[in-house]
Parts: sequence; C-alpha cells; structure tokens
Amino acid sequence: MHIGTTLTQFIIEEQRHTTGATGDFTSLLNDLVTSIKVISNAVNKGALVGTMGALESENIQGETQKKLDVITNDIVMRHNEWAGHLAGMASEEMDDVYSIPAKYPLGKYLLVFDPLDGSSNVDINISVGTIFSILHAPVSGRAATAEDFLQPGTKQVCAGYALYGSSTMLVLTTGHGVNGFTLDRDVGEFLLTHPGMKIPENTGEFAINASNRRFWEPPVQRYVEECLAGTEGPRGRDFNMRWVASMVAEVHRILNRGGIFMYPRDTKDPAKPGKLRLMYEANPMSMIVEQAGGVSSTGYERILDIQPSGLHQRVPVILGSKNEVERVLGYHNG
Ligand code: AHG
Ligand code: MN
Ligand code: MN
Repeated sequence: MHIGTTLTQFIIEEQRHTTGATGDFTSLLNDLVTSIKVISNAVNKGALVGTMGALESENIQGETQKKLDVITNDIVMRHNEWAGHLAGMASEEMDDVYSIPAKYPLGKYLLVFDPLDGSSNVDINISVGTIFSILHAPVSGRAATAEDFLQPGTKQVCAGYALYGSSTMLVLTTGHGVNGFTLDRDVGEFLLTHPGMKIPENTGEFAINASNRRFWEPPVQRYVEECLAGTEGPRGRDFNMRWVASMVAEVHRILNRGGIFMYPRDTKDPAKPGKLRLMYEANPMSMIVEQAGGVSSTGYERILDIQPSGLHQRVPVILGSKNEVERVLGYHNG
C-alpha cells in the first residue's frame, strides 16, 4: 500500500539538491522529529499521566512554568544532544545556552526552540505547539556560546513548528517554500499533506489580544478601529476576529486561510517592547510566513533583519497576509 511521501523521504530528496550536503542536517531533523512525536504523545495523554498544572518555578522571563514546559524541554534536549550534529541548544525555558555533555561529540548546527508554545492552554485541552529554528554554528565542533546564537533570522537554515491540535502536524521550511506534514499515528510517520503552503494576500480576519488595547500605539489602534467599524467604516467591509493565545495555532490558521496576527509594541511594561521572543518565536515564524508569501515586521522593521542583542530578547510582531500587514506598516510609517 502506498502511504505517500514521508517527511524523511521529503528531506532527503530536498537535500539532494543542496551541494555539499553530508546528511548531517537530515539526521538532525530526524532526531528533532522523534522528539516531536514524543511530545505529541505526552501532550495527548493529558490528565491521564499527571502532567497537567503548574510548577513552583519561573523561567528566566518571569513566567510560571507548567509541568509540561519542563517535560517537553527535556524531551527536546535528550533526543538532540547525543548524535553529534549540534554545538549547543537554546530554549525559552533555559536561562543559558545548553552545552552538549562532554561524552557526546559536537557538531556544526545550533538548535533554538520553544518546547511548548501556548502552554497556558495546555490544561484546558486547546492546541499547543513546539517552535524551532536551526542555525549554523559559527565554528563547527566547538561548544557554542550565547553570542554564537545571536544571528539575525535571515541566517536560519531551517524553521518549523509542530502543532498538537485535533491532529498533530509539522510545518517546515528550509528556505524553499513551506510544506506541512500530518502525523499518521498508525504508521508512526509524518506524511506530506500540505505541499507548498501559501498565505492568501488578502484577508478579513485579524488576531490580537484586545485586552491590551489601551497600551497599543496609534497605528495599531487605528487599524483595529477601522476593522471594527466594518461596513460603516473606512474599510467598507466587515472583519472577523480570533485569539487562540497559542502563536502556533494562529500562524497555522493564517497559513491555511490567511489573516493578520499582532502582538504589537505596547506601553504596558517599558522594559518589554513586545511579548514574543525573537529567537524562539518571532524569527522561526517570520521565516515560515515570508516563505509562504506573507510579511512579518515589528511595525518598524522586518523581523528577520533584526540583529539579536540577547537570547531572550522580546520583539513586537505583526505578521500574515501581505496586503493587510503592509497596510498596518503604512500606518506606522505615515
Ligand atoms: P508561551 O506559552 O511559549 O509562553 O507563549 C505564549 C505566547 C504566544 O503563543 C501567544 O500568542 C501569546 O503568548 C499569548 O499571550 P496572551 O496570554 O497575552 O494573550
Ligand atoms: Mn511561545
Ligand atoms: Mn513556551
């Protein structure tokens, strides 16, 4: 029986077109995919296995850690530390760079990840995800420092996310478009189900956490007011609104049917120019969005061009359907 294209087959075939590819990358991705299957299982078991709820601890960003934040972080580390492809890892849930244990060889790639995105949703059985980004280590075979990770998003070799929703999906780019794979639990493989994903240029759907409205800057205030005014307003049409509070789910919706997602700059806490993290969330999602024909910006600059200044740096994010995002950028410039 023919089951279609597996993720492994897809990656190997893609790598054949890359001159100088050694198979290291394919192998790294395979380990990453294994960790994603394990996480999918852990998330899916839900309350049956006692992994719901919060811990006493906070992460470096002052957010309460869920049990599953820590469990999923550990799953990614354990599956990706041993094979010799990585020079280091960095995660939203770890204060510093994770050094590969001395008993394992060091490799030429860096892995950056948000092990459980949308973790406030995990206890209530709403979709969550894992976001990842792969960079070249500046020096192959040497233990990576924090500075080694501070590369702009344009340098990403690969970016992707797993969505643990009504089905588990993996969406991936290596800079040649965006492809989506669905986990077939009977076969145990991700199969290509969404080849060449493209974000529609126009949309009538916006996503923003409107409880922050009073802290937004004027360009975002204006954009949302115009959407809310509907047919009677300057846009002359009605809009629809969504807010899942899992970035992975929002980006996935936008990849499938268009939309604009905003976690914009606000004045709530002057120390935080945005909520989302550049390295773990904004950069990988921006690469995927751009590769699917969308636009991603802080409102003032392209996210992928930002030179990171710290591992846990936060940035404003406005991304999605080209024409709507460009309209909001126009309001910032004007
Ligand atoms: P995480 O669970 O990894 O901390 O990320 C949550 C993020 C993002 O996924 C989501 O879009 C946003 O935070 C939701 O924020 P609000 O709770 O402020 O709406
Ligand atoms: Mn997140
Ligand atoms: Mn997270």
